[in-house]
Amino acid sequence: MFSTTPLKYLAIFLLAFFIFSCDSTEPQKRERISFNNHWLFEKTQDTLAYQMDYDDSNWRRLSVPHDWAIEGPFKPEYNSRTGGLPVFGMAWYRKYFTIDPSKKGSIITLEFDGIMSNATIYVNGKKVYHRHNGYIGFEIDITPFINFNKKNCIAVLVDPKPLSARWYSGAGIYRNVWMEIKNPIHIAHWGSRISTPIVTEDMAKVEVKTKLSNKDLNKGPYKLKTTLYDNNNKQVAEDIIKLGIDEPVVEVSQTMEIENPKLWHFERPNLYKAVSILYKNDNAIDNTEVTFGVRTIKYTREGFFLNGKKEKIHGVCLHNDLGPLGAAVNYRATERQLQIMKKMGVNAIRTSHNPTSPEQLELCDKLGLLVQGEAFDVWKLPKTKNDYHTDWDAWHRQDLKDMIRRDYNHPSIIMWSIGNEIKEQKEPYGADIAKELVAICHDEDPTRPTTAGFNQLSAAIKNGLAAAVDLVGANYKPTQYSGVMKQHPTWIVYGSETASAVSSRGVYQLPLQKYDKDPSLQVNSYDIIAPPWAYPPDIEFHFQDALPQVIGNFMWTGFDYLGEPTPYGGKDNETTGSWNTDWPARSSYFGAVDLSGFPKDRFYLYQSQWTTEPMVHLLPHWNWENSGIKTVPVYCYTNADSAELFLNGKSLGKKVKGVDTTRIPVSFHAWGNRPKYFDSPYRLSWNVPYTPGELKVVAYRNDSIVATESVRTAKARNKIRLIPDRNVIKADGQDLSFITVKIEDKDSNFCPLADNKVTFKVTGPGTIEAVGNGNATSTEPFQANYRKAFNGLCLLVVKSKKDFPGDITIEAMSEGLVSSTIQIKTKS
Ligand code: GAL
Repeated sequence: MFSTTPLKYLAIFLLAFFIFSCDSTEPQKRERISFNNHWLFEKTQDTLAYQMDYDDSNWRRLSVPHDWAIEGPFKPEYNSRTGGLPVFGMAWYRKYFTIDPSKKGSIITLEFDGIMSNATIYVNGKKVYHRHNGYIGFEIDITPFINFNKKNCIAVLVDPKPLSARWYSGAGIYRNVWMEIKNPIHIAHWGSRISTPIVTEDMAKVEVKTKLSNKDLNKGPYKLKTTLYDNNNKQVAEDIIKLGIDEPVVEVSQTMEIENPKLWHFERPNLYKAVSILYKNDNAIDNTEVTFGVRTIKYTREGFFLNGKKEKIHGVCLHNDLGPLGAAVNYRATERQLQIMKKMGVNAIRTSHNPTSPEQLELCDKLGLLVQGEAFDVWKLPKTKNDYHTDWDAWHRQDLKDMIRRDYNHPSIIMWSIGNEIKEQKEPYGADIAKELVAICHDEDPTRPTTAGFNQLSAAIKNGLAAAVDLVGANYKPTQYSGVMKQHPTWIVYGSETASAVSSRGVYQLPLQKYDKDPSLQVNSYDIIAPPWAYPPDIEFHFQDALPQVIGNFMWTGFDYLGEPTPYGGKDNETTGSWNTDWPARSSYFGAVDLSGFPKDRFYLYQSQWTTEPMVHLLPHWNWENSGIKTVPVYCYTNADSAELFLNGKSLGKKVKGVDTTRIPVSFHAWGNRPKYFDSPYRLSWNVPYTPGELKVVAYRNDSIVATESVRTAKARNKIRLIPDRNVIKADGQDLSFITVKIEDKDSNFCPLADNKVTFKVTGPGTIEAVGNGNATSTEPFQANYRKAFNGLCLLVVKSKKDFPGDITIEAMSEGLVSSTIQIKTKS
């Protein structure tokens, strides 16, 4: 048989000869390569799986980002507090790779954006790194462990403990992994810090500080050229600096000016790019590219100002998971989540309660969303058995610094939170820890204020903790904003976490009654139910409206998330930590949007308060036949002046916002001695004797119709409709199409109670990535080719195949219903 091997060796020899004889062994350019593919995975307790020659021949092949826990199955013993999913236990990832010998002399690093959690990394059988915190990324220099031109093996032990958080954290190498090959003298990891100390209409002063890492202690001469480009890739400034690098790490500063800068703000989030190239003797030896924005932020007692304009923060708290996709980061899924939030009128995200993915921040920069970057949910004192308190002493400084160093350049970030509801609010030493953390933040980043979320505000004021941060965040204390501001004449106050109302999409329980657990384990969607520390959104709206100087609020939460199924589940049982008293309730009811991304009614309540583009929304559904319900309360959420309701064409009267109110029950802790209800000016309502047909609402501004919405009584379920969010996606093996699956009657009316099981068949260059339906009690797997509808809807997520452009065909079938077929194009 003819062998190509000798020829191959000859080619390698000639190439090496050429390279060496050119005296140019140094890389001309940094290589940044995705290290996501060709991993092997096994859930094994075997502690020897780090060994080079370990037998992994039967291990599962996969790509990361990967979250093993989302694969299930759901089990009560996995604890509904963390989603009823296996977010703990030992597992190993292994990957073989080779590095071309021509790269000898280069620095080889691996960058993990995050491993959940308690990860130990081995290269060729040697332990090279350990990191407990799953939310922060890190870089490892693996150069000393590499075998050039031989097979190398990386093994990653991931060993998350049960109850390492109060929510579902996911498990595994759940964020991206990168390999970099670079010159021994290079721009350090997270080594560029860009700030804009002066911004006027005519000019922005841009300061670029660059850390250079010198692994050779080679003196140079060197030159660093940094060029700034606008969003059309037009060069707008450049600076070249000559330097000697005679220390292991050297920081250089370059100052440039951009004329007539295009500012970053909500509607036009303009971004700039700084390209830095490092030269040795006029040869380029390293390069990086960093995105930044030009904008100013200012906090005063009058409010928050972005580029000099006062803006109220209309924020949401978001947990880390992506619903049916679990915690594994996916760019499109993250983008979709943020786009849905923007539609609701959201202008800010709080990354509760941990550093988020780099992708989410990149998208917030692109979409014009402000961000509160949060470091911790726990300090020294625990909230759950194995949470961050076990790491606190050894890691908190490093973890906090790393979050700021990683995220410094994002224009979207406007404040750093050093903690959420930390137990030390009540401890005499709480203020000391806060001061230490605040000092770290100020040292790392003098451009942004610090904050924390206090649920025990009085205690945190008493022990000095609240005074230690720059912005005082109150969790669930709208009644105290005004008093606290009066008593502390310099403090700037806002709602770091608000409302925590609960509901299940499409669930309407009549007659209306205040909070009571329901045997269905669902929660009424009339937006009147909240746990005892929490309250309906209207209360927050009221205090925010009354106090324009309060800089805004972050409602809990934008999306439902896995775990913490309040009001079901229970208090942590001391010994087992179990929350399973109401199994299978396994995910949150707090979202304005359900776990699959379908808006609940509450989405529209916020939209009516946070947007100006005319909108109107009506609830409940109009299928009350056979229910025994004679009169139905009908709620309308609108940002128009007034709305008129029609039943089968007959007017039931016009209601005027600000004049007509809706009485809702309110009885949260901090409501005190006030009446146990609130006459909400934020919703219009009618009591409507039930007759099937069409219920229609017409919204007016200045007597002109600006928006309408109708709900019709659906007849028998007849067919499936498939509605993709995008018909064309990228053939990159990552991009997703989110397909809404809707059950309709024969006249195409939505069937609001349908629970049919739908089966999917996907053919062509795509695969099923996940299914879901927003039902917080479903134990059906998220990775399957079927899903039951929940109140008329379910979701199918389809992923493209890499490098196979073409048409994906998606068929949806259900017994007794007319099937549906659509096509999605994938493009290179
Ligand atoms: C807060 C907490 C959040 C979430 C929320 C539910 O106290 O900060 O993480 O648990 O309650 O209402």
